[in-house]
Amino acid sequence: MSDVVTITREGAVAIVTIDNPPVNAVGQAVRQGLWDAVTTLEPDTQVEAVILACAGNTFIAGADIREFDGGSMEPWLADLIDRIHSSAKPWIAALHGTVLGGGLETALGCHYRIADRRTKIGLPEVSLGILPGAGGTQRTPRLTGAAAAVQLVTTGVPVSAEKALEFGLIDRVTDDLDADTMTLAQHAAGQPVPRLDPAPAESNLSQDDWDNLRKQVEKQARGQLSPVRAFDAVRLAFETPLAEGMDAERDIFMELKETDQSKALRHAFFAERAVGKPAALKSGTPRDISRLAVIGGGLMGSGIATAALSAGYTTTIVEQSAEAATTARERVAGNLASAVKRGKITEEARDATLDRLTTTDDFDAVADADLIIEAVFEESDVKRAVFDKLATAARPDAILATNTSYIDPTTFTSQVPNPERIMGLHFFSPAHIMRLVEVVRTPDTHPDVLATGFTMAKKMRKVAVLSGICDGFIGNRILGAYGRMAGYLLEDGASAAQIDGAMKDFGMPMGPFEMFDMAGLQIGYSNRKREAATRDPQMRYSRIADLIVEDGATGQKTGRGFYRYEQGSRAALPSPETEALISAERAEKGITPRSFEDSEIVAMLHAVQVNEAAKILQEGIAERPLDVDVVKMMGYGYPRWRGGPMQEADARGTAQVLSTMQSIADADPGSWHVADLLQEIGGKNGRFADLNT
Ligand code: CAA
Repeated sequence: MSDVVTITREGAVAIVTIDNPPVNAVGQAVRQGLWDAVTTLEPDTQVEAVILACAGNTFIAGADIREFDGGSMEPWLADLIDRIHSSAKPWIAALHGTVLGGGLETALGCHYRIADRRTKIGLPEVSLGILPGAGGTQRTPRLTGAAAAVQLVTTGVPVSAEKALEFGLIDRVTDDLDADTMTLAQHAAGQPVPRLDPAPAESNLSQDDWDNLRKQVEKQARGQLSPVRAFDAVRLAFETPLAEGMDAERDIFMELKETDQSKALRHAFFAERAVGKPAALKSGTPRDISRLAVIGGGLMGSGIATAALSAGYTTTIVEQSAEAATTARERVAGNLASAVKRGKITEEARDATLDRLTTTDDFDAVADADLIIEAVFEESDVKRAVFDKLATAARPDAILATNTSYIDPTTFTSQVPNPERIMGLHFFSPAHIMRLVEVVRTPDTHPDVLATGFTMAKKMRKVAVLSGICDGFIGNRILGAYGRMAGYLLEDGASAAQIDGAMKDFGMPMGPFEMFDMAGLQIGYSNRKREAATRDPQMRYSRIADLIVEDGATGQKTGRGFYRYEQGSRAALPSPETEALISAERAEKGITPRSFEDSEIVAMLHAVQVNEAAKILQEGIAERPLDVDVVKMMGYGYPRWRGGPMQEADARGTAQVLSTMQSIADADPGSWHVADLLQEIGGKNGRFADLNT
């Protein structure tokens, strides 16, 4: 018998158990083991029913994604499932944990499905850029009807066991899986085996209904192919017999698997897991942390505190006055109330969470905290004042973190003893919702402190990425290059609407100018004024954003920025004043506006990001290209189905990206310099992915 699939017997019932940690993925060894189990059990006259179960935390969580890049390895999952379904004996799938993708498809091949109440069940393949390729798009509709099948297959979002029961996907939900599965198997033993009707599934949807549904799926997919093709496959289940539908599903699966989108989404899946394991963390052991203090209870501080409380930490927010402390508590309560509203937590859980929060204006309350996060205004002097106080108020062994998005932590922590306990934690706003955290290490940060930051982020259900120190760290530094290029394109003749439109067609949730308007133009303006004295005079400077602010417009909140906004609306409308101001500035600078293709805009905005990322990599600020990709996908809306800028560079061809960057630098050498690493990789049309060790 195989290492990963074993057979035991209880009377006339055989129990086939898969044990393939960590998630019982149905890779080649499991498929072969199951194939052999069918071969063994089918002729065995002592066996009258078969239970298919999994050891460990979960039933099969899908095909083994790592095999997708290799050749096919028989037996095929679809053939195996067909064999199970054609068995003369009833097979009962005992479901627990996460029953996903090929796991659910295997269960659908069985004749009965019974699930532990806590089971999550779904077909997440579209999030890997593929579709369920082993009968999921054909068997699901035959069990659930059209609406549920379209939902499950095109969104990829798993449902609870109760919902799956309501959909008709499973037969029973239980609180005692082992006992109830055995009872079901004993009843089914020797009885006729129920089989799925191979005729086309029935629905009362008209042609128009189907067409409208497809349009909806297309709209939600925002450029991603797999949900739309998965929808087409589901529709086929209502038009063709099972066998033909299965063949068509297989063809679409093979087509999607080879697309850049699927490769990018698979990259995203593994990159999101690999970021948690940077080399620098190997020698670190996380410390035990239970009490947190957050200095500053503004939007950011209260968001961080909400995330900390939700992760189970006892948390104190320290504010400057009793009134501000009360406001901070109200903010946290508001965040938790909206989590209740969205069905994320119960009212009881909200109350228990709030009970762990203390808000105070007494700075000495930090004395018993294991980890303290400073989240005050992004200004070196303001942060220094906090750290000067922490130097004596905090325990000497307490870990001290600063939530900074740009500033080098060592510039304001020099008075603090034991600098090995200091790190940066760059949360993204709103901090209780956004999943990215950049963990910033100073030259002194101890690996245990970094490991603690990563563990804490994981408990908060966040994805942590390690960054070294530079202005803006990984994400905002790349954003700087992106914003600068967007400004030059605007000055050179592209309109804000064209640039934003091109980037949205590329898959970004919003374009750069909509983003600037939403964030507000004032902070950038103040920063630029402060930096004016030290700015490189060779570098081109676009004044348009400054002129807009000086004209009294600072973005969405004031009703005008790069665009105009009607009262209470976020819809970006053309602003004749801003457009006149841009034209006047072009004339003043003697620029004859030229036209740009959308593809040119996208290529240029992509190239400058890759170029900046290449510098970040060669300086050791980010360890691997995948770290950059995860930062951009999780913090800045870079489409997952493009896998981040570095994956996109590999897909476009790094030689092409280098050539675009070279032209940008040749045209304006004062502003742009091609990174050595881009030169090296693009020069041989190599792949950034090869640096992802
Ligand atoms: N194949 C290969 N490896 C997998 C895997 C899979 N399907 N699912 C998880 N893993 C690996 C992860 O890469 C990770 O490996 P490392 O420890 O080396 O990083 C390990 O298993 C544990 O995974 P997580 O860290 O994600 O653990 P978790 O407990 O947080 O989540 C999970 C578990 C919900 C199952 C999550 O891993 C998950 O969503 N997995 C993918 C599920 C999926 O997409 N299934 C469909 C596959 S495609 C398919 O089935 C096609 C078909 O039609 C035949």
